[in-house]
Amino acid sequence: MRLIFDSHAHYDDEAFNEDRIDILKNLPEKGIFCVVNVGTCIETSKKAIEIASTYDYIWASIGIHPTYTNELKTEFIDKLKELAKDEKVVAIGEIGLDYHYGKETVNEQKEMFEKQLELAIELDKPVIIHNREAHLDTMALLKKYKPKGVVHCFSGSLEMANELIKQGMYIGLGGAVTFKNAKNPVNVAQNIPLEYMVLETDAPYMTPVPFRGKRCDSSHIQFTAQKIAELRGMDVEKLLEITKNNAIKLFRLEGKM
Ligand code: NI
Repeated sequence: MRLIFDSHAHYDDEAFNEDRIDILKNLPEKGIFCVVNVGTCIETSKKAIEIASTYDYIWASIGIHPTYTNELKTEFIDKLKELAKDEKVVAIGEIGLDYHYGKETVNEQKEMFEKQLELAIELDKPVIIHNREAHLDTMALLKKYKPKGVVHCFSGSLEMANELIKQGMYIGLGGAVTFKNAKNPVNVAQNIPLEYMVLETDAPYMTPVPFRGKRCDSSHIQFTAQKIAELRGMDVEKLLEITKNNAIKLFRLEGKM
């Protein structure tokens, strides 16, 4: 049974250079139904499309991650528009704000984020949001533009999650819910309405316990799902099925798989 929908992975990452084809080819037999490979700059967005064109169960998201503010000096919006014409592109992202790594580029980050939010609305595509230690500014911009989409690797409070859900956005949960010190993700995983939850890896990063620290791939979602199912007192297969269907809806893949 292929029940796993990985809503966020980076198989273009150099961590997969040695065995990328093997890993991607074998995903279905490991229970993976679908993966969205997420770009972080123009180059990795192109790679995401390349990977998605090779496998019918992989789709692409294109966008400029907040740590790549150097792209501001380029015609990045025109380039993204061109890339978005590819039929395997299902979302704009990951885009957003990162004040952990980018305290000195806050203004550039905001400018780049807003331009890409406008682009997503113009193209009528869902967004994949990256938010690290920038909760207030991220919320303010999401409230201003009201895009559809998902906040990936959600680290905010339950209150913030519920505000986003009210706006019709999905909450992406990954390996962090299995970490010992994960208070917010656990509280969110346990309490948000299930119909707004999607699962993700952020592979090769954020590997769930018991493989934390090792390279992550989409099959590791089973450990994240197991933990969330325990928290909610439900069957893990049921959880995988519901979150898979949520992701199909989020990325508008009904009838395309
Ligand atoms: Ni990511």
